[in-house]
Amino acid sequence: MEKFGFPKNFFWGASTSAHQVEGGNHNDWTEWERSELRIKNLELRIKDPNFRKRFPPHIFEKLPTPLDLENYISGNACDHYNRFQEDFDIAKSLGHNAHRFSIEWSRIEPEEGKFNEAEIEHYRQVIKALRERGLEPFVTLWHWPVPVWLRDKGGWKSKKIIPYFSRYVERVVSVLNQDVVFWMTLNEPLVFAKISYLEGRWPPQEKSIFSYLRVSSNLIKAHKIAYSVIKRIHPNAQVGIAHNMSFFEMEKNNFVNWALKRFGEWRKNYAFLNAIREHQDFIGFNYYSHYRVNFGYSKIETEKISDMGWSLYPPGIYYMLRALKKYNKPIYITENGLADSRDNNRSWFIVEHLKWIAEAIQEGVDIRGYFHWSLLDNFEWSDGFWPRFGLVEVDYRTMERKIRPSAWEYKKIIGKYSNE
Ligand code: FCB
Repeated sequence: MEKFGFPKNFFWGASTSAHQVEGGNHNDWTEWERSELRIKNLELRIKDPNFRKRFPPHIFEKLPTPLDLENYISGNACDHYNRFQEDFDIAKSLGHNAHRFSIEWSRIEPEEGKFNEAEIEHYRQVIKALRERGLEPFVTLWHWPVPVWLRDKGGWKSKKIIPYFSRYVERVVSVLNQDVVFWMTLNEPLVFAKISYLEGRWPPQEKSIFSYLRVSSNLIKAHKIAYSVIKRIHPNAQVGIAHNMSFFEMEKNNFVNWALKRFGEWRKNYAFLNAIREHQDFIGFNYYSHYRVNFGYSKIETEKISDMGWSLYPPGIYYMLRALKKYNKPIYITENGLADSRDNNRSWFIVEHLKWIAEAIQEGVDIRGYFHWSLLDNFEWSDGFWPRFGLVEVDYRTMERKIRPSAWEYKKIIGKYSNE
């Protein structure tokens, strides 16, 4: 802990996204979650006696479990749409001075070209509620779902989405720009492109390298235009993306491993950032994963793992932050977290990552904020509700919030560095 050092004006907070916490959405994801094919597949999976064995036994202590169909339907999620004030009271009580959330496109433009002013007003109230509590809003404009009418036009695979996206961005930003400085146009564009269009695990479940490349290219174009739109409306706005990047470590130093490492880093970490280099004011970095490179890519085996089996490797964040220095842009850690329903590892996880972040700061990397994923337990995409990522536990039957001990640990660190 002695080594810790953070600038006084550092942003401390947590992240959420609309589809995962709001509840009551109607978008391509909600339709997919309830589609016949999806439900049938889940029913088959749940019936398979081996399915249960994939999960650590303790996650069956809470509802819903991976064996419940309702686990996979976002439904009311955390009802954050109605409870944002009380959730921000909690964030404030936890010492946060910033908060990252996303605006749900399908609420703002439920039908092509018909913008719902009441929903824009809703987000104005969300931002106001943050400001009233001294929390700086970090706003993501697109965190994965799309309105159904847009899905029907081809979604991110069609280049039509580029003008649609910039029109949506213009509409939202021109109303909210007074109260927001930090904008993220896209969340993890390449994770989305890969899982939805190459691996076929998320809607629209395509498995095509061509679709994947086309989607990636549309995302780049959409970001660049949105960047210009926001800067035109608000020249002082700070605009970037939230980008998922992984640390790659060679098992042995040889040419094949070196080449694989370079390729992995380029494709996963740098290709997108390089393509938008002139169109970003900061780098939003989501850190979860790392790979060992040994004639292929594998997980780095670590002593501690999350409930989802992700190995936890805090030093990776430090190596990545050092590597990001070359972009010469301020860096915000826009996500970092773990599924840990018993809260066994979360305090350790936060402290260790912050130590490595502090180390990078000491070496001159310009890091200005840390957002833990997530403020609340929430709907973890195709895995559903069972992975518990929250600093705050949510009881999905009563919607009761319960602050986890790790959230107080995080608060202690925040207190130490923001009041000195
Ligand atoms: C990231 C996503 C976020 C959440 C975390 C666990 O890849 O951006 O929505 O699902 O993973």
